[in-house]
Amino acid sequence: MDIYTDVLIIGTGVAGMYSALNLSKNLNIVMLSKSSIDECNTYLAQGGISTALNEADKELFVLDTLKAGHFKNNKKSVEILADESISNISKLIDFGMKFDTKDGNFDYTREGAHSVNRIVHSTDKTGKVVFETLYAEVKKRKNISILENTCVFDLICDGNQCFGAVGIYNSNVYNFHSKATVLASGGIGGLFKNSTNQRTLTADGISMAIKNHIRLKDIQYIQFHPTSLYEKNKKDRRFLISESVRGEGAKLLNIRSERFVNELLPRDVVAAAIYAEERKTNSSHVYLDLSSMSSPFIKNRFPGIYTGCLDRGLDITKEKIPVTPAQHYFMGGIAVDHNSKTSMNSLYAAGEVSNTGVHGANRLASNSLLEGLVFSRRAARYINNTILNVTAKDIKKDFSFESALREVVKNKNIAAQNFKKALGVKKDELVTV
Ligand code: SIN
Repeated sequence: MDIYTDVLIIGTGVAGMYSALNLSKNLNIVMLSKSSIDECNTYLAQGGISTALNEADKELFVLDTLKAGHFKNNKKSVEILADESISNISKLIDFGMKFDTKDGNFDYTREGAHSVNRIVHSTDKTGKVVFETLYAEVKKRKNISILENTCVFDLICDGNQCFGAVGIYNSNVYNFHSKATVLASGGIGGLFKNSTNQRTLTADGISMAIKNHIRLKDIQYIQFHPTSLYEKNKKDRRFLISESVRGEGAKLLNIRSERFVNELLPRDVVAAAIYAEERKTNSSHVYLDLSSMSSPFIKNRFPGIYTGCLDRGLDITKEKIPVTPAQHYFMGGIAVDHNSKTSMNSLYAAGEVSNTGVHGANRLASNSLLEGLVFSRRAARYINNTILNVTAKDIKKDFSFESALREVVKNKNIAAQNFKKALGVKKDELVTV
Protein backbone atom coordinates (compact mmCIF):
# COMPACT_ATOMS: atom_id res chain seq x y z
CA MET A 1 0.00 0.00 0.00
CA ASP A 2 1.24 3.49 -0.74
CA ILE A 3 0.80 6.90 0.89
CA TYR A 4 2.22 10.05 -0.74
CA THR A 5 3.11 13.25 1.10
CA ASP A 6 5.52 16.18 0.90
CA VAL A 7 7.03 15.68 4.34
CA LEU A 8 7.01 12.51 6.42
CA ILE A 9 7.66 12.92 10.14
CA ILE A 10 8.42 9.79 12.14
CA GLY A 11 7.61 10.47 15.79
CA THR A 12 5.13 12.65 17.66
CA GLY A 13 7.16 14.01 20.57
CA VAL A 14 8.31 17.59 20.85
CA ALA A 15 10.67 17.41 17.84
CA GLY A 16 8.07 15.79 15.57
CA MET A 17 5.20 18.07 16.55
CA TYR A 18 7.20 21.29 16.55
CA SER A 19 8.83 20.58 13.19
CA ALA A 20 5.34 19.96 11.74
CA LEU A 21 4.11 23.28 13.12
CA ASN A 22 7.07 25.16 11.69
CA LEU A 23 6.73 23.68 8.21
CA SER A 24 4.92 25.74 5.60
CA LYS A 25 1.14 25.31 5.69
CA ASN A 26 1.31 24.66 1.93
CA LEU A 27 3.10 21.38 2.51
CA ASN A 28 1.31 18.12 3.03
CA ILE A 29 2.57 16.43 6.17
CA VAL A 30 2.10 12.89 7.45
CA MET A 31 3.17 12.12 11.02
CA LEU A 32 3.61 8.57 12.27
CA SER A 33 3.54 7.37 15.85
CA LYS A 34 4.75 3.89 16.80
CA SER A 35 2.03 3.45 19.40
CA SER A 36 -0.46 5.98 20.76
CA ILE A 37 0.47 9.55 19.95
CA ASP A 38 1.29 10.49 23.54
CA GLU A 39 3.55 7.48 24.16
CA CYS A 40 6.70 9.54 23.77
CA ASN A 41 9.41 10.66 26.20
CA THR A 42 8.31 14.27 25.79
CA TYR A 43 5.10 13.39 27.61
CA LEU A 44 7.10 12.10 30.58
CA ALA A 45 9.48 15.05 30.96
CA GLN A 46 9.07 16.46 34.43
CA GLY A 47 11.75 19.05 35.20
CA GLY A 48 11.26 21.74 32.59
CA ILE A 49 12.97 23.56 29.74
CA SER A 50 16.27 25.40 30.14
CA THR A 51 16.49 28.85 28.68
CA ALA A 52 18.90 31.75 28.78
CA LEU A 53 17.40 34.26 31.21
CA ASN A 54 18.39 37.16 28.98
CA GLU A 55 21.16 38.24 26.61
CA ALA A 56 23.65 38.48 29.48
CA ASP A 57 23.00 34.91 30.67
CA LYS A 58 23.73 33.27 27.30
CA GLU A 59 27.47 33.00 27.89
CA LEU A 60 27.02 31.32 31.28
CA PHE A 61 24.33 28.99 29.89
CA VAL A 62 26.75 27.92 27.15
CA LEU A 63 29.50 27.38 29.72
CA ASP A 64 27.25 25.33 32.03
CA THR A 65 26.24 23.13 29.07
CA LEU A 66 29.86 22.64 27.99
CA LYS A 67 31.06 21.88 31.52
CA ALA A 68 28.30 19.31 32.12
CA GLY A 69 29.15 17.75 28.73
CA HIS A 70 32.86 17.46 29.65
CA PHE A 71 33.62 19.88 26.77
CA LYS A 72 32.89 17.09 24.27
CA ASN A 73 30.05 19.26 22.91
CA ASN A 74 29.91 20.99 19.55
CA LYS A 75 30.35 24.57 20.78
CA LYS A 76 28.60 26.16 17.81
CA SER A 77 25.52 23.96 18.42
CA VAL A 78 25.50 24.98 22.07
CA GLU A 79 25.70 28.66 21.11
CA ILE A 80 22.75 28.20 18.74
CA LEU A 81 20.83 26.48 21.55
CA ALA A 82 21.39 29.39 23.93
CA ASP A 83 20.85 32.07 21.25
CA GLU A 84 17.53 30.64 20.11
CA SER A 85 16.21 29.55 23.51
CA ILE A 86 14.23 32.68 24.36
CA SER A 87 12.54 32.97 20.96
CA ASN A 88 11.44 29.33 21.05
CA ILE A 89 10.02 29.64 24.56
CA SER A 90 8.07 32.69 23.30
CA LYS A 91 6.82 30.72 20.32
CA LEU A 92 5.61 27.95 22.65
CA ILE A 93 3.76 30.56 24.69
CA ASP A 94 2.20 31.89 21.46
CA PHE A 95 0.92 28.36 20.88
CA GLY A 96 -0.73 28.50 24.31
CA MET A 97 1.88 26.97 26.63
CA LYS A 98 1.45 27.94 30.29
CA PHE A 99 4.56 28.06 32.45
CA ASP A 100 4.46 28.58 36.21
CA THR A 101 5.02 32.18 37.24
CA LYS A 102 5.90 34.01 40.43
CA ASP A 103 5.47 37.75 40.97
CA GLY A 104 4.74 38.26 37.28
CA ASN A 105 7.90 36.51 36.04
CA PHE A 106 8.70 32.90 35.19
CA ASP A 107 9.15 30.80 38.33
CA TYR A 108 12.61 29.62 37.18
CA THR A 109 13.79 26.46 38.91
CA ARG A 110 17.22 24.90 39.30
CA GLU A 111 18.70 21.52 38.41
CA GLY A 112 22.14 19.97 38.64
CA ALA A 113 25.11 21.84 37.09
CA HIS A 114 23.17 25.01 36.25
CA SER A 115 24.86 28.05 37.84
CA VAL A 116 21.57 29.89 38.19
CA ASN A 117 17.83 29.17 38.24
CA ARG A 118 16.94 29.15 34.50
CA ILE A 119 14.45 26.35 33.97
CA VAL A 120 10.88 27.19 33.05
CA HIS A 121 8.32 24.60 34.02
CA SER A 122 4.71 23.69 34.45
CA THR A 123 4.67 22.09 37.92
CA ASP A 124 6.39 18.70 37.41
CA LYS A 125 4.41 17.94 34.24
CA THR A 126 6.19 20.22 31.79
CA GLY A 127 6.50 17.62 29.05
CA LYS A 128 2.84 16.66 29.23
CA VAL A 129 1.78 20.30 28.97
CA VAL A 130 4.20 20.91 26.08
CA PHE A 131 2.84 17.85 24.30
CA GLU A 132 -0.80 18.88 24.83
CA THR A 133 -0.09 22.45 23.70
CA LEU A 134 1.60 21.35 20.48
CA TYR A 135 -0.94 18.62 19.76
CA ALA A 136 -3.82 21.07 20.15
CA GLU A 137 -2.14 23.26 17.52
CA VAL A 138 -1.37 20.34 15.19
CA LYS A 139 -5.04 19.31 15.25
CA LYS A 140 -5.98 22.75 13.89
CA ARG A 141 -3.78 22.31 10.82
CA LYS A 142 -5.59 20.85 7.82
CA ASN A 143 -2.27 20.00 6.13
CA ILE A 144 -1.15 17.59 8.89
CA SER A 145 -2.42 14.02 9.32
CA ILE A 146 -1.34 11.60 12.02
CA LEU A 147 -1.29 7.84 11.88
CA GLU A 148 -0.89 6.06 15.23
CA ASN A 149 0.27 2.48 15.85
CA THR A 150 2.55 2.55 12.83
CA CYS A 151 5.87 0.82 13.31
CA VAL A 152 8.43 2.17 10.86
CA PHE A 153 11.24 -0.29 10.19
CA ASP A 154 13.11 0.89 7.10
CA LEU A 155 13.79 3.89 4.91
CA ILE A 156 13.10 4.20 1.19
CA CYS A 157 16.33 5.34 -0.40
CA ASP A 158 17.85 5.68 -3.82
CA GLY A 159 21.59 5.89 -3.41
CA ASN A 160 22.16 8.56 -0.80
CA GLN A 161 18.74 10.17 -1.19
CA CYS A 162 15.80 9.44 1.10
CA PHE A 163 12.32 9.18 -0.40
CA GLY A 164 10.32 8.09 2.63
CA ALA A 165 9.96 5.08 4.89
CA VAL A 166 8.27 1.71 5.25
CA GLY A 167 6.04 0.80 8.17
CA ILE A 168 3.47 -1.64 9.46
CA TYR A 169 -0.02 -0.35 10.18
CA ASN A 170 -2.95 -2.54 11.03
CA SER A 171 -1.21 -5.73 9.78
CA ASN A 172 -0.43 -4.14 6.41
CA VAL A 173 2.88 -2.91 5.08
CA TYR A 174 2.85 0.68 3.84
CA ASN A 175 5.32 2.60 1.70
CA PHE A 176 5.21 6.24 2.82
CA HIS A 177 6.60 8.32 -0.06
CA SER A 178 7.95 11.78 0.70
CA LYS A 179 10.24 14.50 -0.60
CA ALA A 180 11.63 15.16 2.88
CA THR A 181 11.67 12.85 5.88
CA VAL A 182 12.19 13.91 9.50
CA LEU A 183 13.25 11.20 11.92
CA ALA A 184 12.04 12.25 15.35
CA SER A 185 11.65 8.73 16.65
CA GLY A 186 13.16 9.28 20.09
CA GLY A 187 15.51 7.39 22.33
CA ILE A 188 16.78 3.96 23.22
CA GLY A 189 15.53 3.27 26.76
CA GLY A 190 13.24 0.42 25.70
CA LEU A 191 16.39 -1.65 25.11
CA PHE A 192 17.42 -1.30 28.75
CA LYS A 193 15.97 -3.24 31.65
CA ASN A 194 16.05 -0.19 33.89
CA SER A 195 15.04 2.99 32.12
CA THR A 196 12.78 5.97 32.71
CA ASN A 197 11.81 5.90 29.00
CA GLN A 198 8.70 4.60 27.30
CA ARG A 199 9.24 0.88 26.67
CA THR A 200 8.34 1.27 22.98
CA LEU A 201 11.43 3.43 22.35
CA THR A 202 13.84 0.82 21.08
CA ALA A 203 16.33 2.86 19.04
CA ASP A 204 14.42 2.37 15.77
CA GLY A 205 16.03 5.42 14.17
CA ILE A 206 19.49 4.18 15.08
CA SER A 207 18.98 0.72 13.59
CA MET A 208 17.53 2.19 10.38
CA ALA A 209 20.54 4.50 10.17
CA ILE A 210 22.94 1.59 10.62
CA LYS A 211 21.16 -0.47 7.94
CA ASN A 212 21.26 2.43 5.49
CA HIS A 213 24.85 3.58 6.18
CA ILE A 214 23.83 6.91 7.69
CA ARG A 215 26.43 8.52 9.93
CA LEU A 216 26.08 8.14 13.71
CA LYS A 217 28.01 10.03 16.36
CA ASP A 218 28.87 9.71 20.06
CA ILE A 219 27.01 6.44 20.51
CA GLN A 220 29.00 5.66 23.65
CA TYR A 221 27.34 8.57 25.51
CA ILE A 222 24.34 7.27 27.42
CA GLN A 223 22.95 9.11 30.41
CA PHE A 224 21.78 7.48 33.62
CA HIS A 225 19.45 9.65 35.69
CA PRO A 226 20.47 9.59 39.36
CA THR A 227 17.00 9.34 40.85
CA SER A 228 14.45 6.90 39.54
CA LEU A 229 12.09 5.48 42.14
CA TYR A 230 13.48 2.21 43.45
CA GLU A 231 10.92 -0.56 43.16
CA LYS A 232 11.91 -4.19 43.68
CA ASN A 233 11.39 -6.57 40.74
CA LYS A 234 10.15 -3.79 38.48
CA LYS A 235 9.74 -4.90 34.87
CA ASP A 236 8.06 -1.78 33.56
CA ARG A 237 9.36 1.75 33.01
CA ARG A 238 11.09 3.26 36.05
CA PHE A 239 9.24 6.19 37.60
CA LEU A 240 11.34 9.35 37.50
CA ILE A 241 11.89 11.57 40.49
CA SER A 242 12.80 14.83 38.83
CA GLU A 243 16.12 16.51 39.42
CA SER A 244 14.13 19.65 40.18
CA VAL A 245 13.16 18.00 43.49
CA ARG A 246 16.84 18.30 44.40
CA GLY A 247 16.85 21.76 42.79
CA GLU A 248 14.19 22.77 45.33
CA GLY A 249 16.29 21.46 48.23
CA ALA A 250 15.85 17.68 48.63
CA LYS A 251 18.90 15.84 49.95
CA LEU A 252 20.39 12.45 49.07
CA LEU A 253 21.06 10.13 52.02
CA ASN A 254 22.50 6.64 52.16
CA ILE A 255 20.72 3.83 54.01
CA ARG A 256 22.48 4.99 57.20
CA SER A 257 20.87 8.45 56.71
CA GLU A 258 24.23 10.06 55.89
CA ARG A 259 24.57 12.68 53.15
CA PHE A 260 27.27 11.64 50.66
CA VAL A 261 27.24 14.00 47.66
CA ASN A 262 26.39 17.56 46.60
CA GLU A 263 23.00 16.94 44.99
CA LEU A 264 23.40 19.63 42.35
CA LEU A 265 26.57 18.38 40.71
CA PRO A 266 26.23 17.20 37.08
CA ARG A 267 24.01 14.18 36.54
CA ASP A 268 26.76 11.72 35.68
CA VAL A 269 28.70 12.64 38.84
CA VAL A 270 25.66 12.26 41.10
CA ALA A 271 24.66 8.94 39.46
CA ALA A 272 28.22 7.61 39.91
CA ALA A 273 28.23 8.71 43.57
CA ILE A 274 24.93 6.85 44.15
CA TYR A 275 26.23 3.67 42.50
CA ALA A 276 29.38 3.90 44.67
CA GLU A 277 27.31 4.44 47.82
CA GLU A 278 25.05 1.50 46.99
CA ARG A 279 28.10 -0.72 46.60
CA LYS A 280 29.65 0.59 49.83
CA THR A 281 26.52 0.03 51.87
CA ASN A 282 25.58 -3.15 50.06
CA SER A 283 22.19 -1.69 49.15
CA SER A 284 20.10 -1.45 46.00
CA HIS A 285 19.09 2.16 46.61
CA VAL A 286 19.68 5.38 48.51
CA TYR A 287 17.07 7.89 49.71
CA LEU A 288 15.85 11.30 48.68
CA ASP A 289 14.82 13.31 51.71
CA LEU A 290 12.23 16.08 51.16
CA SER A 291 11.83 16.94 54.83
CA SER A 292 12.99 20.53 54.22
CA MET A 293 9.79 21.13 52.19
CA SER A 294 6.32 21.65 53.60
CA SER A 295 3.55 19.27 52.65
CA PRO A 296 1.53 21.94 50.72
CA PHE A 297 4.67 22.95 48.81
CA ILE A 298 5.36 19.34 47.77
CA LYS A 299 1.75 18.81 46.66
CA ASN A 300 1.63 22.04 44.63
CA ARG A 301 5.08 21.99 43.13
CA PHE A 302 5.34 18.25 42.44
CA PRO A 303 1.77 16.98 42.01
CA GLY A 304 2.74 14.26 39.51
CA ILE A 305 5.51 12.85 41.65
CA TYR A 306 3.40 13.13 44.81
CA THR A 307 0.51 11.24 43.21
CA GLY A 308 2.74 8.74 41.38
CA CYS A 309 4.42 7.78 44.66
CA LEU A 310 1.15 7.75 46.61
CA ASP A 311 -0.32 5.35 44.04
CA ARG A 312 2.59 3.06 44.90
CA GLY A 313 1.95 3.34 48.64
CA LEU A 314 4.55 6.02 49.46
CA ASP A 315 3.56 9.37 50.98
CA ILE A 316 6.50 11.65 50.12
CA THR A 317 5.25 14.39 52.45
CA LYS A 318 6.03 11.98 55.29
CA GLU A 319 8.55 9.43 53.99
CA LYS A 320 11.91 9.48 52.24
CA ILE A 321 11.91 8.28 48.63
CA PRO A 322 14.04 5.21 47.80
CA VAL A 323 15.89 6.02 44.57
CA THR A 324 18.46 4.48 42.27
CA PRO A 325 19.92 5.48 38.87
CA ALA A 326 18.31 4.30 35.62
CA GLN A 327 19.01 4.77 31.93
CA HIS A 328 17.42 8.08 30.93
CA TYR A 329 18.81 9.71 27.80
CA PHE A 330 20.96 9.08 24.73
CA MET A 331 23.34 11.92 23.95
CA GLY A 332 24.65 10.20 20.82
CA GLY A 333 22.61 9.57 17.74
CA ILE A 334 22.33 10.27 14.04
CA ALA A 335 24.91 12.93 13.20
CA VAL A 336 23.29 16.14 11.96
CA ASP A 337 24.45 19.60 10.96
CA HIS A 338 23.02 22.84 12.34
CA ASN A 339 19.93 22.47 10.15
CA SER A 340 19.37 18.91 11.37
CA LYS A 341 20.44 17.41 8.03
CA THR A 342 21.78 13.86 8.27
CA SER A 343 24.46 12.39 6.02
CA MET A 344 21.65 11.22 3.69
CA ASN A 345 20.02 13.80 1.40
CA SER A 346 16.43 14.79 2.24
CA LEU A 347 16.67 12.97 5.58
CA TYR A 348 16.60 15.07 8.76
CA ALA A 349 16.84 13.99 12.39
CA ALA A 350 15.68 15.94 15.43
CA GLY A 351 15.26 15.34 19.13
CA GLU A 352 16.82 12.43 21.01
CA VAL A 353 17.46 10.31 17.90
CA SER A 354 19.80 13.00 16.58
CA ASN A 355 23.24 14.13 17.59
CA THR A 356 23.64 17.88 17.21
CA GLY A 357 26.62 17.79 19.56
CA VAL A 358 24.75 20.00 22.03
CA HIS A 359 25.07 17.62 24.96
CA GLY A 360 28.63 16.35 24.67
CA ALA A 361 29.30 13.41 26.96
CA ASN A 362 26.61 14.29 29.52
CA ARG A 363 23.46 16.33 28.95
CA LEU A 364 22.81 19.33 31.16
CA ALA A 365 19.45 18.92 32.88
CA SER A 366 16.40 20.21 30.97
CA ASN A 367 18.32 20.81 27.75
CA SER A 368 16.51 18.02 25.90
CA LEU A 369 13.14 19.68 25.26
CA LEU A 370 15.00 22.85 24.31
CA GLU A 371 17.19 21.00 21.82
CA GLY A 372 14.05 19.39 20.37
CA LEU A 373 12.48 22.81 19.87
CA VAL A 374 15.48 24.69 18.51
CA PHE A 375 16.75 22.10 16.06
CA SER A 376 13.39 20.81 14.81
CA ARG A 377 12.44 24.40 13.92
CA ARG A 378 15.75 24.72 12.08
CA ALA A 379 14.99 21.51 10.16
CA ALA A 380 11.53 22.82 9.25
CA ARG A 381 12.85 26.15 8.05
CA TYR A 382 15.53 24.46 5.95
CA ILE A 383 12.94 22.13 4.41
CA ASN A 384 10.62 25.08 3.67
CA ASN A 385 13.44 26.71 1.72
CA THR A 386 14.66 23.69 -0.20
CA ILE A 387 11.83 21.23 -0.76
CA LEU A 388 10.84 22.73 -4.10
CA ASN A 389 14.22 21.60 -5.45
CA VAL A 390 13.45 17.94 -4.67
CA THR A 391 11.68 15.74 -7.20
CA ALA A 392 9.86 12.80 -5.64
CA LYS A 393 10.71 9.31 -6.86
CA ASP A 394 8.15 6.56 -6.58
CA ILE A 395 10.32 3.73 -5.27
CA LYS A 396 8.56 0.84 -3.57
CA LYS A 397 10.01 -1.58 -1.05
CA ASP A 398 8.42 -4.95 -1.23
CA PHE A 399 7.89 -6.52 2.22
CA SER A 400 5.29 -9.10 3.12
CA PHE A 401 3.74 -8.69 6.58
CA GLU A 402 5.82 -11.63 7.85
CA SER A 403 9.11 -10.32 6.46
CA ALA A 404 8.29 -6.86 7.86
CA LEU A 405 7.81 -8.36 11.33
CA ARG A 406 11.15 -10.15 11.01
CA GLU A 407 12.71 -6.80 10.12
CA VAL A 408 11.30 -5.21 13.31
CA VAL A 409 12.92 -7.92 15.43
CA LYS A 410 16.16 -7.61 13.45
CA ASN A 411 16.22 -3.85 14.09
CA LYS A 412 15.98 -4.32 17.83
CA ASN A 413 18.91 -6.71 17.75
CA ILE A 414 20.99 -4.46 15.52
CA ALA A 415 20.46 -1.59 17.98
CA ALA A 416 21.14 -3.69 21.08
CA GLN A 417 24.34 -5.13 19.56
CA ASN A 418 25.40 -1.63 18.67
CA PHE A 419 25.12 -0.42 22.26
CA LYS A 420 26.65 -3.53 23.69
CA LYS A 421 29.71 -3.07 21.49
CA ALA A 422 29.96 0.70 21.92
CA LEU A 423 29.59 0.67 25.66
CA GLY A 424 30.73 -2.63 26.87
CA VAL A 425 27.20 -2.69 28.37
CA LYS A 426 26.76 -5.87 30.32
CA LYS A 427 24.47 -8.25 28.50
CA ASP A 428 22.05 -8.37 31.45
CA GLU A 429 21.48 -4.62 31.36
CA LEU A 430 19.92 -4.90 27.92
CA VAL A 431 16.58 -6.48 27.13
CA THR A 432 17.65 -8.03 23.84
CA VAL A 433 21.03 -9.09 22.60
C1 SIN B 1 14.25 15.61 35.41
O1 SIN B 1 13.21 16.22 35.63
O2 SIN B 1 15.05 15.31 36.27
C2 SIN B 1 14.53 15.19 34.00
C3 SIN B 1 14.74 16.37 33.18
C4 SIN B 1 15.76 16.07 32.13
O3 SIN B 1 15.96 14.90 31.79
O4 SIN B 1 16.40 17.01 31.69
